[in-house]
Amino acid sequence: MRSHFCGRIDDTLDNQHVTLCGWVSRSRDLGGLVFVGLRDYTGIVQVVVEPENTEAFATAESLRNEFCIRVAGTVRMRPQSQWNEDMQTGRVELLAETIEILNAAAPLPLLMNEDDGEEVRLKYRYLDLRRERMQRNLRLRSRLTSAIRRYLEEREFIDLETPILTRATPEGARDYLVPSRVNAGRFYALPQSPQIFKQLLIMSGMDRYYQIARCFRDEDLRADRQPEFTQLDIEMAFIDEVGVQQLAEGLIRQVFADVLDVDLEDPFPRISWADAMRRYGSDKPDLRIALELVDIDDLVADLAFKVFSGPASDPASRVAALKVPGGAGMSRKQIDDYAAHASRYGAKGLAWMKINDTSAGLHGVQSPFAKFLDGSIVSSLIQRTGAAAGDLLLFGAGPVSVVAAFMGALRLKVGHDRGLVEPGWRPLWVVDFPMFEYNQDDQRYYALHHPFTAPAGGTAAALVSEPANTLSRAYDLVLNGAEIGGGSIRIHDPAVQQAAFDVLGIDCEEAGRRFGFLLEALKYGCPPHGGIAFGIDRVAALMAGEDSIREVIAFPKTTTAGCPLTGAPSTVDPAQLAELHVRVTSKDERSSS
Ligand code: AMO
Ligand code: AMP
Repeated sequence: MRSHFCGRIDDTLDNQHVTLCGWVSRSRDLGGLVFVGLRDYTGIVQVVVEPENTEAFATAESLRNEFCIRVAGTVRMRPQSQWNEDMQTGRVELLAETIEILNAAAPLPLLMNEDDGEEVRLKYRYLDLRRERMQRNLRLRSRLTSAIRRYLEEREFIDLETPILTRATPEGARDYLVPSRVNAGRFYALPQSPQIFKQLLIMSGMDRYYQIARCFRDEDLRADRQPEFTQLDIEMAFIDEVGVQQLAEGLIRQVFADVLDVDLEDPFPRISWADAMRRYGSDKPDLRIALELVDIDDLVADLAFKVFSGPASDPASRVAALKVPGGAGMSRKQIDDYAAHASRYGAKGLAWMKINDTSAGLHGVQSPFAKFLDGSIVSSLIQRTGAAAGDLLLFGAGPVSVVAAFMGALRLKVGHDRGLVEPGWRPLWVVDFPMFEYNQDDQRYYALHHPFTAPAGGTAAALVSEPANTLSRAYDLVLNGAEIGGGSIRIHDPAVQQAAFDVLGIDCEEAGRRFGFLLEALKYGCPPHGGIAFGIDRVAALMAGEDSIREVIAFPKTTTAGCPLTGAPSTVDPAQLAELHVRVTSKDERSSS
């Protein structure tokens, strides 16, 4: 139907006859001449229609945005005064000979620009995706997955699929369930990840597996979370954590070079989970922000200011300071706003100190708790935090995890608000995670990664006797403050696996019921193995410079897990439910049960 692509028409085609197909991105009737912007995925070219060409002119006058048309004509140079050097097609135009309307477009239900709301964009996604930005994002995503496949296939990884209709997999979210018609009262779960199957494939001698796999998690949605999302899932036999990390790091470095022409640092830095929490208040630190949390427990333990001295003397609590460069100029209202932000992350208050003069002791600072201080503590605080005149110090006191949460959140907010986010790419391995996390509310341990993660150096007995102090062989890869991947070396000894289940409160009987097939498989010569999974949507969004992964997914869900385009989820025919042995209760029945 066409001889060329719109965005690739340039000077080299001057005087040549071409035929193009595409959409009308705008059309202007400029006193006698009609100018049409003709767009396909490669870009836009200007088409000119002269009134002498009566038939084409009449057609051109009837065009509206998003009509799908075919134009034949001759390429010619524009007058130099009209060159647009920002476009490949900016020096030329196409003088139309014939215009054929392939399909008209009804008046558009959206503006097709940045002003369209999310709901309407998703409802008319096929129009939204025609926009240049979305074309660029989805094409970038395709280049990303293609670079991934090249890298892994060169290293003899094999691409294998695993079931979608399966049993619950323990990644910690709620499952999506699918009722079985032929097995009344039974349900499949959609996989939260291919975790167990990829381990079984390694036990099957596949040696190096990968899959670009859809995962399903029924959890609260955010900008970086979708109910169905895509992982690059990797698993390897006869490997330790260094081996998996080298492979994964090489992969990320290669795809950034291939897709963005960016050289990431080599090797990626690494930090222990404990250090990350202490210095950044986060297990996914954004290293583009140079600010760090500074411990001051030893300096304030003896103060009469109980807000500080209490936590400073309690090993399960801490007092940390965060320097806000140039923050002494903030108004009371601005500081209150930071306190309000901190309280959303659990802070009971937010103490602060304005540094006006670093050498005037107590007289050089302003603070709501100044009456508890003396000159020597003030200078120790200034020295410890490296504060200068004009800076503000924010202080967080309380249980270690609460201080990490709100001071980590403040660090990010201060960084963004005050323009302290350095440009560029800052990858980081986070290692030495604790195996388990104790939840006070239900008085039990949870796996920080997943229950198949191997303990560091531990025997089954050590794991059970010291669960709180056992580190795991898990690792996360963080890029610019986003967790883009996570994995671990797995347990390959059935006794250690049962010990891990024991700590998690999964007894033999329950373990047998839920994971019996895995425990059984571990008995037959299971090789040491490990792997990692990357969130492809997150990597693509970072590469595209998008804040939300919805911008790199063709048909994403809204924050309420709906699809405005298809109307999913929808009600179904009662006959279909009956066949599935499912009964939908009314709201009243649900609230009374
Ligand atoms: P994990 O649960 O850490 O590990 O997931 C791996 C990566 O997947 C991405 N991710 C998500 N992306 C979008 N929406 C979501 N709801 C979502 N949840 C997770 C993140 C994350 O780093 N089976 C293990 C991997 C392994 O051990 O090999 C797993 O799934 O980028
Ligand atoms: P209060 O004694 O509660 O009036 O608090 C005195 C000062 O300490 C106020 O500036 C509070 O914002 C601050 N503050 C209270 N609790 C904390 C906390 N957990 N961490 C940091 N500052 C706090």
